[in-house]
Amino acid sequence: MIRLAKPTIPEAAINHVRKIFKSGDLVQGKYVREFETALQNYLNINYSIIVSSGTAALHLCLMALGIKEGDEVIIPAFTFPATANVIEIVGAVPVLVDINFNDYCLDVSRITSRITDRTKAIIPVHEFGQSADIEHLMQIARKYDLMVIEDAACAFGTEYNGKKTGTFGIAGCFSFHPRKAITTGEGGLIVTDDCDFADKVRALRNHGISSKKDFTHAGLNYRMTDFQAAIGLAQMDNIEKAIESRIEMAHSYNKLLDNCEYIRTPDTFPDRKNVYQTYHILLDEIIDRDKLIANLLDNGVQTNYGAHALHCVTYYRKKYCYEDSDFPVAEQAYKKGLALPIGDHLKYEDIEYIAEILKRM
Ligand SMILES: Cc1ncc(COP(=O)(O)O)c(C=O)c1O
Repeated sequence: MIRLAKPTIPEAAINHVRKIFKSGDLVQGKYVREFETALQNYLNINYSIIVSSGTAALHLCLMALGIKEGDEVIIPAFTFPATANVIEIVGAVPVLVDINFNDYCLDVSRITSRITDRTKAIIPVHEFGQSADIEHLMQIARKYDLMVIEDAACAFGTEYNGKKTGTFGIAGCFSFHPRKAITTGEGGLIVTDDCDFADKVRALRNHGISSKKDFTHAGLNYRMTDFQAAIGLAQMDNIEKAIESRIEMAHSYNKLLDNCEYIRTPDTFPDRKNVYQTYHILLDEIIDRDKLIANLLDNGVQTNYGAHALHCVTYYRKKYCYEDSDFPVAEQAYKKGLALPIGDHLKYEDIEYIAEILKRM
């Protein structure tokens, strides 16, 4: 079976974990601090706070920024539902905006019409490892005095004009789930250049305990264990190579599939570096995507749809009375998108094999 994703855990990580288990110091120790420093240096940002998941990262940011009932937060209609769920959890309203076909990210030209007196923030999602049009989005955010929390769960290493995504807004959130460039099993990261915000997030991550060891906030336990951090840290040595190899694989797919009339391969932009956390294609309307997924599986290839159109999933459709056609680009990406296997477990011949099956459809 050619799996959609299969993380490579280096031997060094396994050795570190063995040592940690023998030492008995399992939580929030030396490896958490070292991993935070390595991430900070890689992303070129002042503060990094690692947490238990990408969802926890987004939730803590909303809490730390005081987003609450009655507030509105603008997000893309196409993403993993965690982006919207955390807004619901703090009692605010996720306001959906359609995406572009060329990057599967927020269509920035549609943001202004969705801003109201209640709008407090925008959460752009850098989908599938591609950067959103973040500089233009930041211009709008500055003009309307809105906070920007970047959902870079799928975009570790992605760049816009040479600057890493996740470092443009007040905060950037990442995930270390197994399908991501670096994995700790479950895990997440918040980065920021704002010292007060970092202090608050650190306290909220740890039951609301401040640096002075007092309970200054009603916090949560969103800490990462030390053995998870050791696994993440060991992967940092190879991060550039791992990303380059994904980019090479994506280019191979592009070459093999570009002349297939039923497939739209990912667009490229001269000012953006896509790290292809997911290699995502869009199928023509006449193709039955779910039949194709089953056909690929019969041929030993695991694939999946890409992300979700929030207005089409039960909770949001029911609560906000959406129709499927409300956000047509998100709807089509949801219904006709396909994620193909990518990662170190793949050889070039596997990519050729997958492309051959797709061309026969
Ligand atoms: C865009 C996006 N945001 C948030 C998350 C949540 O991350 P986690 O699974 O680490 O909680 C994901 C998960 O894949 C995601 O794709």
